[in-house]
Amino acid sequence: MLGLTMSELRVFSMILQIIALLLIVIGSIVLKKSTSMKEGISKHGKIINVGYFLAIISVLYMVYSAYLFTISTGSISPLVVAHGSLGIIALVLGAIFVTNRWSWKTKKYMRIEMVLWLAVFLGGTYLYLVINGAI
Ligand code: HEM
Repeated sequence: MLGLTMSELRVFSMILQIIALLLIVIGSIVLKKSTSMKEGISKHGKIINVGYFLAIISVLYMVYSAYLFTISTGSISPLVVAHGSLGIIALVLGAIFVTNRWSWKTKKYMRIEMVLWLAVFLGGTYLYLVINGAI
């Protein structure tokens, strides 16, 4: 795919995920530290939207990798099913924020999303370490 090997794509995807998570954290700090609420919310939204789109690019690779893994082994790993399902929920909730569905854009839902995203990220990192034979 794109002239890159799967292991190169995996590293690229991991880097995108780390940058996405950093942008989500930075976007949250920016809002907290901001003196003007209006300006803070605008910066917060812009920074996190970039992170969200980087994560989407990386998830395209993950879906492709899950597909290859499934057709080569003839079965779906429960770990991938658990990670993928939680990942889809995190992405759908994220899409609601990115597309400005204001009734959902509350602190409560954003906190839930943050915890969910972190859990999915950690699950994915675990998968990454297992696939690379590190654990
Ligand atoms: C918010 C959403 C998601 C986050 C934050 C996330 C995070 C991660 C991370 C950090 C990795 C390890 C690095 C990598 O291999 O790219 C990973 C791997 C993986 N993820 Fe996700 N993921 C998400 C959604 C999904 C979805 C929707 C699927 C559905 C198929 C999925 C399937 C996989 C698979 C199969 C791997 C192993 C890929 C490989 O290394 O070849 N992920 N994920």
